Amino acid sequence: MIDLTDDTWWRTAVIYQIYPRSFADSNGDGIGDLPGITRRLDHVASLGADAIWLSPFYPSPQRDGGYDVADYRNVDPQFGTLEDFDALVARAHELALRVVVDLVPNHASADHVAFQAALAAEPGSAERGLFHFCDGLGEFGELPPNDWQSMFEGSAWTRVTEIDGTPGQWYLHLFDETQPDWNWDAPGVRVDFETTLRFWLDRGVDGFRVDVCDALIKAPGLPSWPYPTHGVVQPIEGRTPPMWDQEGIHEIFRDWRAILDSYEGSRILCAEAWLPPERTARIVRPDEMHQAFNFAYLEQLWDADAIAETIVSSLAANDAVGAPTTWVLSNHDVMRHASRFGYDGPVALEHGVGVDDPQPDRPLGLRRARAATLLMLALPGSAYLYQGEELGLPEVTDLPDEARQDPVWARSHQQIRGRDGCRVPFPWDDSTSSNGFSSVAATDTWLPTPSYYAEFSAAAQGLQLESTLSLYRSTLAVRRSADLQGSALEWDSMPNSGTIAFSRGDTHVVTNVAGEPVPLPSDATILVASDPEVRATRLIARDTTVWFTTI
Ligand code: GLC
Ligand code: CA
Repeated sequence: MIDLTDDTWWRTAVIYQIYPRSFADSNGDGIGDLPGITRRLDHVASLGADAIWLSPFYPSPQRDGGYDVADYRNVDPQFGTLEDFDALVARAHELALRVVVDLVPNHASADHVAFQAALAAEPGSAERGLFHFCDGLGEFGELPPNDWQSMFEGSAWTRVTEIDGTPGQWYLHLFDETQPDWNWDAPGVRVDFETTLRFWLDRGVDGFRVDVCDALIKAPGLPSWPYPTHGVVQPIEGRTPPMWDQEGIHEIFRDWRAILDSYEGSRILCAEAWLPPERTARIVRPDEMHQAFNFAYLEQLWDADAIAETIVSSLAANDAVGAPTTWVLSNHDVMRHASRFGYDGPVALEHGVGVDDPQPDRPLGLRRARAATLLMLALPGSAYLYQGEELGLPEVTDLPDEARQDPVWARSHQQIRGRDGCRVPFPWDDSTSSNGFSSVAATDTWLPTPSYYAEFSAAAQGLQLESTLSLYRSTLAVRRSADLQGSALEWDSMPNSGTIAFSRGDTHVVTNVAGEPVPLPSDATILVASDPEVRATRLIARDTTVWFTTI
């Protein structure tokens, strides 16, 4: 059971992200679902995580993997029922796992009743006021109201046909055209989301990961911004973008925090905002959210100086507001880190890879990913893991193009493949051709399951002492037991250039990113090592992290 009196659990928690479509299919339709998750929660508990975060499972036409919500207070029939959700929470709590769900407040699905009502209503009506409807520019309103770009390519505006059949107003969508942005200046929107928060809090959830929370408020007058934004947002030519990080977002977070604080136990808000550390830290001031993903860290290449600088600036920014730093290397939007680090040089995080593109060096990527994970898990703060990274899963880079589902593939006119390669079904065992994910054939799961995923299965790795799964388990066990949690990070002198070295209490951590091999002190006792060879050689070679003590 979870300890409701523990009000600091989230400061050091390891939270495991589950992408429901791809975790476990209980009813043989090729799509993962809530009962499938419930049956597999013991895997997450035995890994040593403290909580799960579930990506959306709400009723949705699934135009953006459920980040297009048609009904915020129900379960999509393809994932199960509200009773299945309750059973999932009960089982998770029994296993001492907290449950964080996704809140998607920036936009609805175009299928949402409120948007359908807005389409049927007049320009200027209260119904339209819940979204951003504007008249177009040009003599006949034939041009979009401004030059904003959709995150998924193309204009951020779509023109509607009015009920009398004439071309009409335009509505704003920072993402796909099936994802109209809510107008957070409308009181009705605020009230409705408060009802949604309470709905899930009453059902026992322990928190919310808040999708694109930095976009809720747009600058008044929607001023021009012709630049597409990808990754961590930076000012351009001295101007900050008018759709991200506006001051008005903080008032909303404070309202939500007050609601969460009125509930028993310690329920949390975690911000998804692709902002630099000093801007992200403003979201985790004491009366706002608890956590905010450190995407500046996720964006770093395998480069010792860049990683160390990001650690320093992130800890400084968060310490200044008394918040923990929330580390993450992979999620459902970016190329898996076991593949990302298999390239030398920059990688477009969200663009995906096709068979004709340069392929990652898989063994090198995995070796670095193991080292990167051990480094991350030694840092002070909380960490998020993405399902499958504990198996060292590579990105699937040979998905057939016709199987792709990411809306960016169509919107970019087949130029950007998108994020499907990190969302492929999870390999459990060898019981079926889809590696125990589903009873349907590997070719019939919602994204086809590649045959080479079999070698990564959880069942196979659970039996191997040196597998990536065993490494995650032992690392999380040490993380829990060592005096890590109570101790701040202290930098140790770098043994060589190209290395990162610090201590947490009595635990020393060395990551050799690109330096000469570093000898372990003769009195060192190894706690965990990303490369088992270290135990024999007593040398920390390139692309290796070791945790050790000298007492
Ligand atoms: C977030 C989600 C991503 C989604 C987007 C629009 O970035 O993580 O998957 O496509 O928001 O909701
Ligand atoms: Ca299913």
